[in-house]
Amino acid sequence: EDYALGGYPDFMRKEIAEQSEAVRRALRGRLDDRFATARLGGLNMDARELRGISKVVFLGCGSAYYAGQLGAQLVEELARIPATAEPASEFRYRNPVVDPDALYVAISQSGETLDTLAAVQELQRKGGRVIGAVNAVGSAIARQCGAGVFLHAGPEISVASTKALTNMTVSFTMLALLLGRVRDLSAADGQRIVDGLRAVPDAIDQLIGDEAAIAEIAQRYAKARSMFFIGRVRAWPVAREGAQKLKEVSYVHAEAYQASELKHGPLALIDPEMPSVVIVPDDELLAKNINTIEQIKARGGPVIAVTNADLPASIADDVIRVPKVAPELDPMLLTIPLQLLAYHCALALGRDVDKPRNLAKSVTVE
Ligand code: AGP
Repeated sequence: EDYALGGYPDFMRKEIAEQSEAVRRALRGRLDDRFATARLGGLNMDARELRGISKVVFLGCGSAYYAGQLGAQLVEELARIPATAEPASEFRYRNPVVDPDALYVAISQSGETLDTLAAVQELQRKGGRVIGAVNAVGSAIARQCGAGVFLHAGPEISVASTKALTNMTVSFTMLALLLGRVRDLSAADGQRIVDGLRAVPDAIDQLIGDEAAIAEIAQRYAKARSMFFIGRVRAWPVAREGAQKLKEVSYVHAEAYQASELKHGPLALIDPEMPSVVIVPDDELLAKNINTIEQIKARGGPVIAVTNADLPASIADDVIRVPKVAPELDPMLLTIPLQLLAYHCALALGRDVDKPRNLAKSVTVE
């Protein structure tokens, strides 16, 4: 195990650090500058079939489901095809309407998650077209789907998923780009995404270089009884993943909320004892997110802003800065400081980060 850790204190920290390399692997041979698109041969679909897709439905459990939410947003933004995500664990219990013209994407790092496998089987029984977005080659879900996108994140040991999730989002960006370029997406926008994807690994390394500042913030907040993670639209799945990671490895209660929903109830929980992590992408909703921070601060709530916008340090109690790549790709980068925040909260509380209590790396039971 010491050898496998390669000098890192645990696998979670190692896998966070490996993300730039994992993304480079996922992109290798898949970006096409000539046509400003992506090449995903494992889909086994030609342009006519890709053009015929009426909607895209992402299915996964836990963090893979949140990655699916990011995937659905990317498909809607870049390809203008209706897209949704839902927890694979619920799918077979609600007698879903299966659309033969839809593309279903089963997402799984391990490829062995029973609920996701069962959703794939239910879909196939009802004539649905399912592809896999799987990390483990040769796994049950990869075999059951027979076609898809391998994540190429490399082995992930820590129960908390980090690099596999990043590669899920990278893969969904390529899928959305491919679907967009056989429809309405311009070559210029396609190339902007291709260039943005290529810039992701260096941006990740830059982010991880700021770890010490995030660790210091984590030490100050680790004793909180609960934390809010707030985001809207592109940042909403980021907030959900941030809350999930914190709960999973530090056992600190965390709740993710859509920024605009705060005033419909949860604002009552804000007080000096309830820190909020507010995810602020530099996009068309920036002014609204600044307003959200002000609303929380006006009620005495401490705010940690995670942002790639050029905001003054005085905007929040703490500001974690993230490099900018392209608006569509920013949610992926905004997620990474939240991994480090959860990790360092867990360390500050003396948790076993790689093997959190009550959890298994792959959930092969119902
Ligand atoms: C992520 O940190 C969690 N351990 C968990 O939510 C995980 O993503 C989920 O169980 C799905 O696992 P899979 O990707 O192997 O299917």
